[in-house]
Amino acid sequence: MAFQEKGKQLFDAGTSFARGVRIIDDLPLDRLPEIAFAGRSNVGKSSLINALVGSPIARASNTPGRTQELNFFKVSTRFYLVDLPGYGYAAAPKKTVETWTRLIHDYLRGRQQLKRAFLLIDARHGIKKVDENIMKMLDSAAVSYQIVLTKADKVKDSELSKIYAKVMADAKTHVACYPEILITSSENGQGIADLRGEIYKVIAGL
Ligand code: GTP
Ligand code: MG
Repeated sequence: MAFQEKGKQLFDAGTSFARGVRIIDDLPLDRLPEIAFAGRSNVGKSSLINALVGSPIARASNTPGRTQELNFFKVSTRFYLVDLPGYGYAAAPKKTVETWTRLIHDYLRGRQQLKRAFLLIDARHGIKKVDENIMKMLDSAAVSYQIVLTKADKVKDSELSKIYAKVMADAKTHVACYPEILITSSENGQGIADLRGEIYKVIAGL
């Protein structure tokens, strides 16, 4: 499919780590478009970025709370992928959770160059209360976002169709939520080419 090929070309140009941001004043100033990956801790944000890029550029780990800052990866010279810390991680100290939550919210709500947020949902679990809260926040800030189901390799097809239908029904009730859901696995590569194609469309303004 043509968009997949365009997406592949976009990523073939190479990706490098640009910066880690712990306070909102440190966001990049060069006004390149940004694509962010948000979701509960351990949902697979960093792994998905690695799968897109084709190398282990973002630190992924089995320990929830791995990513602790907003990590900006520059793709070619054209745009940034932004790996966000996970939300809903109850085991971290309360103050740390509050700081991350504020940083994530401030970034998502107020970033003009944020062209799309991908909201990652674990294909085994579906949408949780914390996800619903983020979705409401994105709706009210009019940030265009799209749901990506992760870890599809861990669920049976029959289970996946059920979760998909449920998530789609919920997505349709959110005004800023893009009405197409992507199904991915960073483990076996499912949906990665489609996601690259989607990113191409966002960057090209299509
Ligand atoms: P935080 O940075 O803590 O918010 O986590 P994250 O959302 O970045 O998750 P990360 O990519 O670090 O992955 C968490 C765990 O899930 C790791 O052990 C990954 O190997 C595993 N994982 C991620 N994606 C997949 C997938 O598609 N399939 C399978 N089977 N495991 C995955
Ligand atoms: Mg991470």
